[in-house]
Amino acid sequence: MAGWKFETVVPAAAAEAFAAAVESLCPAVASFEIPGSTLWRIEGYASDMPPHAEAAAAMAVAAARAGIAEPEFTCIPLPDTDWVADNQASFQPLHAGRYFIQPSHFDGAAPHGTTALTVDAGAAFGTGEHATTKSCLLALDGLAKRRQFRRPLDLGCGSGILALAMAATWRRPIMAADIDPQSVVVARENAEINGLDGWLRIRCSNGVADREVRKAGPYDLIVANILAGPLVALSHRLSACLAPRGVLILSGLLAQQENAVRNAYRRQGLSLRHRIALDGWHTLIVARHPV
Ligand SMILES: C[S@@+](CC[C@H](N)C(=O)[O-])C[C@H]1O[C@@H](n2cnc3c(N)ncnc32)[C@H](O)[C@@H]1O
Repeated sequence: MAGWKFETVVPAAAAEAFAAAVESLCPAVASFEIPGSTLWRIEGYASDMPPHAEAAAAMAVAAARAGIAEPEFTCIPLPDTDWVADNQASFQPLHAGRYFIQPSHFDGAAPHGTTALTVDAGAAFGTGEHATTKSCLLALDGLAKRRQFRRPLDLGCGSGILALAMAATWRRPIMAADIDPQSVVVARENAEINGLDGWLRIRCSNGVADREVRKAGPYDLIVANILAGPLVALSHRLSACLAPRGVLILSGLLAQQENAVRNAYRRQGLSLRHRIALDGWHTLIVARHPV
């Protein structure tokens, strides 16, 4: 058996209190608005069944806190499912500019003239489906029409998808880094699967803290699809690794976070040259000179 699913349905105003209660029973919790109603479904996932008495007590406390009657709840066993395989099977090829990202189970031919990359959904972020990744691929496609880059860095490489795209486009040594060791393993596997391992160096690094990452700079292109917080925190050290005529692609920020990120990089002498907005996410291309 793969584990247990705990479920309850509560009024919207009580959803937060119940999500917190379910969190005390299950390590993973998800809350969903039920369309066309004022109700929310709170789901919890656990490897062992939460004890009934403990679950009932947690529900009673949350109900008292939210001022509602105790809702019913269920706790059902989950079938044995290979979630990774299921997720991989649902992942279909996608286009972003010149890039055609295909899962390994895809047995069709990549469209003529595209740069095909094989990336499976797995333990590291980055299949191209997410707006932030897709926007970075579009940004790389746009830059590739205008310029050659000789020394790129992919910071927060996840699956390595952007480093692979840069290697396939420019056939130059690419540095890639991620804070998460598992992502480094996955990115190395993907580099090999795509026959691009000869071009990629992949390091485990918090920002540009790793000596090898700093030593390989200054970079004429840096793509950093991280999140607004780390991007702001890294603005000084990341800009210091950028060559004078270098270009920096910043992604992973929501529209409302753009000003904070832009201001941080403007203080480093980098101005906005181009923006890609997709599904509420903004990707910024900044540089000291026109790109
Ligand atoms: C949104 S994913 C992007 C993955 C991939 N580059 C893409 O575009 O799909 C962000 C990645 O940044 C990594 N990351 C987060 N903070 C970091 C930091 N301070 N230094 C290096 N990597 C970081 C995460 O581990 C994660 O793999």
